[in-house]
Amino acid sequence: MKLFIDTANPAAIKDMMELGVLDGVTTNPTLVSRENRPFMEVMLEIAKLVEGRPVNIELVTEGVDNMVKEAKEYAQLADNFVMKVPMSKDGLVVVNRLAVEGIQTNVTLTFSPAQALLASKAGANYVSPFVGRLDDISHYGMELVGQIVNIFDNYAIDTEVIVASIRNPLHVLEAAMMGADIATIPPKVVEQLTEHPLTHIGIEKFKEDYKKIPKK
Ligand code: G3P
Repeated sequence: MKLFIDTANPAAIKDMMELGVLDGVTTNPTLVSRENRPFMEVMLEIAKLVEGRPVNIELVTEGVDNMVKEAKEYAQLADNFVMKVPMSKDGLVVVNRLAVEGIQTNVTLTFSPAQALLASKAGANYVSPFVGRLDDISHYGMELVGQIVNIFDNYAIDTEVIVASIRNPLHVLEAAMMGADIATIPPKVVEQLTEHPLTHIGIEKFKEDYKKIPKK
């Protein structure tokens, strides 16, 4: 399974890259707004930082023609940009047009398996079910991932499933168990994934016991 980081913070991206486990980046307008810097300045810094790996950049204009124009402009600026297209009828038209141009897309804000199926048929390279936001309204978010993976397996659909809106390590574990292609993980959860209390206890014990070994 590929691991993406879900942040627009360059320092957090560098940290995960140093672990040797980073396959790509997802951003959205909320995440970029936290950086308090111009949108494209942040996005280009990230694109350069992770060169060769996909960087998801969200389209923010409305209407098919505007979104296609926006996507084409972004595609000129970095060859690893993937256009995040919000799920809608217009969004599907945009995905279809961009696919013809060879511009990569990720259909975001996907909350049903039927939406994911349509996104794949329209030509999306990626589809992003938002699991945490479903959990927030008492729907089991990971069930959606299972359904999408199942449908894509049934028809050998090559659109990749990005499990998004991840809130805890169990979301990542379940994504892997279900055979999702990618989990996009916020920095806090990356941190949590490296931790285990027994690892800490074990390290402390070995340090203490090392001190007891005679020097000569
Ligand atoms: O990748 C989408 C993600 O950023 C949304 O996460 O926590 O705002 O639901 P959240």
